[in-house]
Amino acid sequence: MERRDFIHVCAASALGLGTRLASAAADAQPRHYARTRLSDESGRPLLASRLTAGENYVFHYPFEGTPCFLINLGKPTTQNVALKTGDGRSYQWPGGVGPQRAIVAYSAICSHQLTYPTRQISFISYRDRSTASKAGKPSMIHCCSEHSEYDPAAGARVMGGPAPQPLCAILLEYDRAADALFATGTLGGEMFNTFFAKYEMRLALEHGSPARAQQRVAGTSTVTALTRFCKQQVRC
Ligand code: FES
Repeated sequence: MERRDFIHVCAASALGLGTRLASAAADAQPRHYARTRLSDESGRPLLASRLTAGENYVFHYPFEGTPCFLINLGKPTTQNVALKTGDGRSYQWPGGVGPQRAIVAYSAICSHQLTYPTRQISFISYRDRSTASKAGKPSMIHCCSEHSEYDPAAGARVMGGPAPQPLCAILLEYDRAADALFATGTLGGEMFNTFFAKYEMRLALEHGSPARAQQRVAGTSTVTALTRFCKQQVRC
């Protein structure tokens, strides 16, 4: 090979590698946390087929202080939805799991100003057709703080309001034989560090200490209906 050709090949290879590295950096990769079995309030394994369609359920994952919604949408979800984080990283949400691929889970922390459901009050929740927000569309997760809306059947894509990115998806695994659900990781724009910084004092009160709130969930996580988890749900 002529020296000039060799240099050309090297330059082309370097360019190709650079492009691959750039595109790898541009994608939001799934983040894997401890495979965690979802259980009911009595500590027994949660049965996916018992989830009431349209009901908001709450569990904590991947940290003790980070709440998530678990929802049986009652109909198959869109699969392989192309989405982007607020800083432009692409990812593909795989779709729901369970018998109809209708069960989804998302971080319940609004991507706008980090509103989240507490034991006292929740400004954010899923609304099916019968409970749809007056201010928004039906079958959406609606945040009453500034009316951000997310479509849970399409990876929590932003459908309205000031939210800069979809809710971070929680990756679920479904064991058909046992009718069991496991959380295994997250996909999309995590906001946990900002969340811990913003609510350090409140989380310390809710969970005993900041360290406890930031402790990783392992083993099992308890699923509770939002109506039982929090005293007041704000509708808007
Ligand atoms: S915090 Fe949810 S819309 Fe502003």
